[in-house]
Amino acid sequence: MTRRNMLAGNWKMNKTISEAINLAVRLKYACNSVDDRDVVLCPPYTSLKPVAETVDESPIEVGAQNMHYERSGAFTGEVSPDMIKDAGADWVILGHSERRQYFDENEELLARKLRTASDEDLKVFYCIGETEEQRDAGQVEDILKTQLEAALSGFGFDDFEELVIAYEPVWAIGTGNTATPEQANEAHGVIRDVISNLFNPGVAEKIRVIYGGSVKPHNVQELMAQPDIDGALVGGASLSADDFADIVKYDLEDEISLSDL
Ligand code: PGA
Repeated sequence: MTRRNMLAGNWKMNKTISEAINLAVRLKYACNSVDDRDVVLCPPYTSLKPVAETVDESPIEVGAQNMHYERSGAFTGEVSPDMIKDAGADWVILGHSERRQYFDENEELLARKLRTASDEDLKVFYCIGETEEQRDAGQVEDILKTQLEAALSGFGFDDFEELVIAYEPVWAIGTGNTATPEQANEAHGVIRDVISNLFNPGVAEKIRVIYGGSVKPHNVQELMAQPDIDGALVGGASLSADDFADIVKYDLEDEISLSDL
């Protein structure tokens, strides 16, 4: 089965509104002719609406980086699924390792967020991945299995508007230490096996599993050449229009130069 590639940019806590609009304008222009893959931009909350307005009428979609599991209420500092949709975003990233690491998000909490995202028809990037210590201890399979099963048990694949799994080994995020294409592909194979048991083999065939962790223009091609890798979730390199456009168009002839802008 051929799965449509997904290239998503996670801007993390970067870009003011005007910077975000500028980046989105440049990407909208650069990715204008790309129609055989999906592109999603995930700016900080403050820029969701301006970025969504900027890429309106283009194939580029917008996502939030996090979400609360309640729909409204006394949760100071939090943002609800309705607010995200109201800002023009269709996607949400859940379970990013920085949320797990710095904000103590665990599978129990993430299961609640996944339930709300499913109920509210938000499309989900669910991030999983092992730390360096866990890899060194030979625990990669166990960790991926736990992170998938503990959060996704009780769901059907069709409960989600869309569910994309992002394999992001923690040791590769923001470090410049990319997983080798073979390491990533092997982990993606494990993820498909777990998904096959959790849902069914058909879902394991069609679900998109994307890789994240120091994806750059120079390594994207070899990662995407792997049979089980269906795209990338890009952090640092998504902050540069040139770099992210090169990543999105990793195997296309470049017809448009950003220096024209
Ligand atoms: P990175 O981040 O590309 O800067 O390693 C990836 C991510 O955190 O999604």
